[in-house]
Amino acid sequence: MEKTFFIKDALKESIKPVELQGWVWQIRKQKKMIFIVLRDSSGIIQCVVKDDKPFFKDADGLTQESSVVLQGTVKKDERAPTGYEMSVSDMKIIHLAERWPITKDTGTVVLQNLRHLHLRSPKFTAVMKIKSTILQAAQEYFISQGFYQVTAPVFVTSAGESGSEQFEIKNYFGKKIYLTQTSQLHIEALSFGLEKVFSLLPSFRAEKSKTRRHLTEFTHLEPEVAWCDDEGIMRYAEEMIAHVVKRVLERHRDDLKLLGRDISALEKIKAPFPRITYADALQRMAQKGFAMKWGDDFGAEEERILTQDFGVPFFVTNYPKEVKAFYMKINGKDPRTVKNFDLLAPEGYGEIIGGSEREVDLKSIVERLKEKGEKPEHYEWYLDLRRFGSVPHSGFGLGVERIVMWICGLKHIRNATPFPRRHNRVYP
Ligand code: 4AD
Ligand code: MG
Repeated sequence: MEKTFFIKDALKESIKPVELQGWVWQIRKQKKMIFIVLRDSSGIIQCVVKDDKPFFKDADGLTQESSVVLQGTVKKDERAPTGYEMSVSDMKIIHLAERWPITKDTGTVVLQNLRHLHLRSPKFTAVMKIKSTILQAAQEYFISQGFYQVTAPVFVTSAGESGSEQFEIKNYFGKKIYLTQTSQLHIEALSFGLEKVFSLLPSFRAEKSKTRRHLTEFTHLEPEVAWCDDEGIMRYAEEMIAHVVKRVLERHRDDLKLLGRDISALEKIKAPFPRITYADALQRMAQKGFAMKWGDDFGAEEERILTQDFGVPFFVTNYPKEVKAFYMKINGKDPRTVKNFDLLAPEGYGEIIGGSEREVDLKSIVERLKEKGEKPEHYEWYLDLRRFGSVPHSGFGLGVERIVMWICGLKHIRNATPFPRRHNRVYP
């Protein structure tokens, strides 16, 4: 048994009876008529049961989210929410649902506890459909460019980004290990065999901050390319983002409308994207009355202010080496800085990508590790990559939930993922 006919297929006038399998999204009961708004993954349709039907009483007992199979004919009706109405000739109840615990007055915390049920709402469904296209389009882009998709471990023995945000596993058969913060280090190793690789895996950060854009577990899309510098990898980043936005616009105009997203803001997104340096960004901040000194990092608020100057995503490049990770290559033109970039999404969203050219010099990388308070001996295997046929290489990481948040116009990252993990939330 498998369902092959969906509500979207029924949204046209037809004299032939159709059968629809779905859930009762809304129900309005009158003396002589019952209006059921039926939902499935493809949409909604209004269905009417009249009191001359033998199953009228059963329909009268239906509850929200009961699952049913309805038969009937579909007619155009301007008053119906999606323009068509089904006159029901037969009905089978598959499961009569208990009282649905969500109403329009349910508060945020309760909604989060009921996430496994709330996920069925049309808005969540729209976000998850768009996320599916974002994941698919990004992978499609890299594969079209000759990349190999690779896997990397979640259990690791050292920090990829910074020690403070690592989750410890206290007893891995008697050893202390960590959950990975990035697959970068492992896929750098793979890039010296396969040259162009990408991974799509979870990353973990012990973020205690209560910001709207941090999860403790997020989906991380990371490409790594051998024989490629920072400029080369930035071109992949902008082309990939432009391709993803194009696909979303091709497939999801209705979903974006349902979410109240300003579609014209997305229609402007074309590669290449503007580039400014960290030093330019400091000047822009000063002009706006926000004094920052060399070496200060941009937080969410500073990034939001910077995005006011751009209606499209833009790169901020060449940050001071103190605020960035040990593996970023020192910029020969200004050794205070590294050959890195963040890609900031417009409309206040801020960083969605962080990337860089990688340091290839063994001595320099060991020094940087020490400066950051890390023990080089914990990175022996990684340092081997600089001992055996090292070549220039570059990569970046895209936070999938961050790009979903921006493309869908969401206020909080927890709504960009079905089961968010945050410092105060691991249920359901
Ligand atoms: O800038 P980040 O920390 O860079 C790295 O991890 C590099 N090793 C990636 C690489 O070069 N392969 O993280 C990359 C992106 C950020 O730009 C952000 O979009 C996302 O990952 N991200 C988070 N998303 C949600 N919650 C968090 N706590 C995140 N931390 C990072
Ligand atoms: Mg970053």
